[in-house]
Amino acid sequence: MPDIVTRRLRLRRFSRADASAFARYRSDHCVARYQTWRSPVGQAEAEAIVAGYLAENPDGPGFFQYAIERNQRPGLIGDLHVETGRRRARVGITLAPDMRHRGYATEAMATVADRLFATGVKRIVATCDARNTASAKLLRRVGFEQQGRDKQYLEQRGTHTDVLLFRMSAEQLRRPS
Ligand SMILES: CC(C)(COP(=O)(O)OP(=O)(O)OC[C@H]1O[C@@H](n2cnc3c(N)ncnc32)[C@H](O)[C@@H]1OP(=O)(O)O)[C@@H](O)C(=O)NCCC(=O)NCCS
Repeated sequence: MPDIVTRRLRLRRFSRADASAFARYRSDHCVARYQTWRSPVGQAEAEAIVAGYLAENPDGPGFFQYAIERNQRPGLIGDLHVETGRRRARVGITLAPDMRHRGYATEAMATVADRLFATGVKRIVATCDARNTASAKLLRRVGFEQQGRDKQYLEQRGTHTDVLLFRMSAEQLRRPS
């Protein structure tokens, strides 16, 4: 699988060596707060999750998790998953806490969306916990439009929370510069 290279980032297949960094950021309270995955993530669990990613097929259909790293400084800084159907895809992204507020998520998401539309996908969807303002802001910045709100849809660590539903077509994408 060829890597996806953006101005500052490289999106590539996960490798076993990523497990420690993966465990570190997924165990951070700020990162996990609005997510459904269990946290903290121990080293052995991270290794098992990463081993699962190694078996995935980037050309779909189905789930594929990209590892995100910087072009100039290799090493895992986040992950971006794509779940591809025939004409629809679902995406989600996570960055390590010290890698936020630099525009990396916008750059990665916009580039992957551009690729998906180029392969014939017509709609990309994403969801987030309604309290996750950083995620909603990111999705809007890339070109997603909010389609609805599922009230009390998700049980998130003991709390019932609303979920925002986003959708984007090719015309709405703010293409990466
Ligand atoms: C969702 C998440 C990836 C968003 O990260 P983010 O850092 O806010 O988004 P970006 O990397 O695109 O950075 C955008 C910010 O960088 C700023 N920025 C700085 N340099 C920039 C540049 N060169 N280009 C673009 N933006 C830049 C922008 O102004 C923006 O600032 P703001 O946050 O004050 O509005 C992050 O909050 C996260 O990992 N959260 C935990 C996991 C999660 O909840 N994921 C969502 C799943 S639904």
